[in-house]
Amino acid sequence: MGKIVIAIDGYSGCGKSSTAKAVAKDLGFTYIDSGAMYRAATLHFLNSYLSPSNPQDVKKGLESMKITFLINPETGRQETYLNGLNVEDEIRTMAVSEKVSEIATVKEIRKELVAQQQRLGRSKGVVMDGRDIGSVVFPDAELKIFMTANLDTRSFRRQQELLEKGELVDLEMIKRNLAERDRIDSSRAESPLVKVADAVEIDTSNLTFEEQVAQIVHMAKEVIDNAKDHASNHR
Ligand code: DC
Repeated sequence: MGKIVIAIDGYSGCGKSSTAKAVAKDLGFTYIDSGAMYRAATLHFLNSYLSPSNPQDVKKGLESMKITFLINPETGRQETYLNGLNVEDEIRTMAVSEKVSEIATVKEIRKELVAQQQRLGRSKGVVMDGRDIGSVVFPDAELKIFMTANLDTRSFRRQQELLEKGELVDLEMIKRNLAERDRIDSSRAESPLVKVADAVEIDTSNLTFEEQVAQIVHMAKEVIDNAKDHASNHR
């Protein structure tokens, strides 16, 4: 199958990551969770007592931070590593969620992570989810999706996700966290979350997980087929 780049952006807690992962699996593409990189950076700054608002701390933090992804051979799950340590579970805690949007406003941190994301997607055949993938990281992505869902649905889904990992969090607290992250992510000066003109919007409030995955896979196959037809017409 032809290789394309699929960019999935949208608000916090829309199910972008799980959807992107399933789409990648179906197409035989690589999934890259750009949010995990901002989360790992947040954990690094928290653990090292570095302040994202102090330029010297930011420099120090970036110099001492290495984020990588490795596939767990037992589960087949892609996991995030920070300086060689598996931080996949730690980066999903509320402590990190409460700080991550602030870290993601810092220009130098974004610059570094965007460059790494672009390197990871260079050979195509990737599905990447985040906030600025279609607008900044891969403005030429062949397929751009903008996912939305209402706040209540997103909060409930996020609560279930945390519960499955053994963290019981009050629904109102989750709602406040998602709303606050949406506000910061959409209003920041650096690469704010926007729906670009060529993105297809999918509201997942009333869709099942299987339906949202199937919609995107269908669109991706159309794009791949069109590219193939186009190429053969020009041979
Ligand atoms: O996708 P997520 O909820 O795990 O992302 C965590 C935070 O990282 C999110 O609140 C904003 C930031 N982020 C970003 O600014 N740009 C991205 N491409 C991905 C995430």
